[in-house]
Amino acid sequence: MHRLAVFASGSGTNFEAIAQACADGRLDAGVVLMVCDNPDAAVVGRAARFGIPSFVFSPKSYASKADYEREIIAKMDALGVELVCLAGYMRIVSDVLLEAYGGRIINIHPSLLPAFRGAHAVEQAVAYGVKVYGITIHYVDAVLDGGKIIAQRAFEYDGNDPEEVHRIGQKIEHQLYIETIAKLIQ
Ligand code: GAR
Repeated sequence: MHRLAVFASGSGTNFEAIAQACADGRLDAGVVLMVCDNPDAAVVGRAARFGIPSFVFSPKSYASKADYEREIIAKMDALGVELVCLAGYMRIVSDVLLEAYGGRIINIHPSLLPAFRGAHAVEQAVAYGVKVYGITIHYVDAVLDGGKIIAQRAFEYDGNDPEEVHRIGQKIEHQLYIETIAKLIQ
């Protein structure tokens, strides 16, 4: 069984899809740690329902990003984490985490990178009027949403409702993340 950590900041539907795939045996893996930078996020309750240990912190209570990342690294080292999956973790990862886990951190992003980097990719794509949307999974490096692409999946949408794009995209995200993790841990 491979040991995963999942980082999230919000709802955590991707976290839940990964945790459920592990629980069902669709992934030969277990989520050994959920990391969240927002104590009010819904993902905290999801982790508790799965009985998955979590590290939930408030960045404001640390002097620096390096300080909380060192704490995360210590926990991941102790648990033998092999792959770190960012799933709606809305913080830029610093050199501290990259030096410790670089090459083993992946992220899911709701656009066809390199188009529409950053926090509001779907809203930007809708405002731009694109007709082909998509999801990207990539390695995380020092460039925001800039690491080597591992997988992409596109879908067509001809409308102007970002919520609808999110709904369509999230179903694809859940499948694509599980398929991609399965390939990486093989
Ligand atoms: C996902 O749609 C993910 O692609 C996006 O946050 C959402 C989290 O949803 N990530 C980014 O925008 C990263 N730049 P979830 O909490 O339901 O998994």
